[in-house]
Amino acid sequence: MDITAPTADLAGRASEAATETAMARTLLTPRFYRTDYAAFDALDVTPVRAEWDEMMAEFEADANRHHFERDAEEYRAEIRDLPPDLRQEFLDLLVSSVTAEFSGCVLYSEIARNVENPEIKKLMRLMARDESRHAGFINTALKDFGLNVDLGALRRDKQYTYFGPKFIYYATYLSEKIGYARYITIFRQLERHPEKRFHPIFKWFESWCNDEYRHGEAFALLMRANPHLLQGRNKLWIRFFVLAVFATMYVRDHNRPLLHEAFGFTPDEYDMEVLRITSQITTQVFPLTLDLDHPRMKPRLDRLTRIMAGIDAAKAAGGPGSWLRRAGLSAAAAFTFAQMYCQRARPNALPARTLAAPVW
Ligand SMILES: [Fe+2]
Ligand SMILES: [Fe+2]
Repeated sequence: MDITAPTADLAGRASEAATETAMARTLLTPRFYRTDYAAFDALDVTPVRAEWDEMMAEFEADANRHHFERDAEEYRAEIRDLPPDLRQEFLDLLVSSVTAEFSGCVLYSEIARNVENPEIKKLMRLMARDESRHAGFINTALKDFGLNVDLGALRRDKQYTYFGPKFIYYATYLSEKIGYARYITIFRQLERHPEKRFHPIFKWFESWCNDEYRHGEAFALLMRANPHLLQGRNKLWIRFFVLAVFATMYVRDHNRPLLHEAFGFTPDEYDMEVLRITSQITTQVFPLTLDLDHPRMKPRLDRLTRIMAGIDAAKAAGGPGSWLRRAGLSAAAAFTFAQMYCQRARPNALPARTLAAPVW
């Protein structure tokens, strides 16, 4: 749908389309999760008590209490006109971001609602508070374009995926940290090139990403308090989740070439920087990191990107051959993923102290 000139009616239909996009459940769009709340209830933070209290003090100090307020007039004055294709990519980014933020909000508030453990309840409430601010701020930005993702409908109607608690720890930890790395990489780039800042929302990214960083710290401590999550066969799961999160981001970003060009870097430059930062951060908790410098790593990520584009094209083309073609390409994607999974990883000795400052 063309949403470059939203009249009242078009804006209404475009908002429906935005909500539908947010509702869609494909391999690459953010998902909504449910989990085993009893396992969260049973978590014991005693082994990391000192660092836990330090982190909770930061959550409670709530340095970003007033960060997500804006002077509407000043803010709107900074919104630049964009060519239609770039505008579409930017709006897609906002819709997928609001979904991701809201997905965190729903997960954390559901955990808070379903546990008695006071430590976990408090943490989840505070993280839900942050994510709800983030989602609200992006939704306000979408409203400036006549768009609105209906968060209530999303909460009610989007399909939920059940993830065991172990997988929530790995996947959520990674998504918080990669979220930090993404926001800070864009912020630093636009700090160096303010002329490329085509929308005011990017000015909010620096303090914003510290919230995401802190959310990641919470999961890092939960995992360090339960070291069995980081040993033995679980190392295979960690490797799987790191690769899945990295590859998903890489493929998705390469579908948005114009956005990266507008920021003044290629998707390659941006993604490799984000992956490097994230990988470096994860040394606080994961016993291994992927070898991003492996000569086969990037060519395989590129291959996966081409295969996924082929699947999209086959889907769009439809027709009798489409199913077969998609099946073949899906097998090729799985094979490429398996090849990357089998590449050597780097062992990592965990530091005595888990918490680390966001210094990027
Ligand atoms: Fe967030
Ligand atoms: Fe977060």
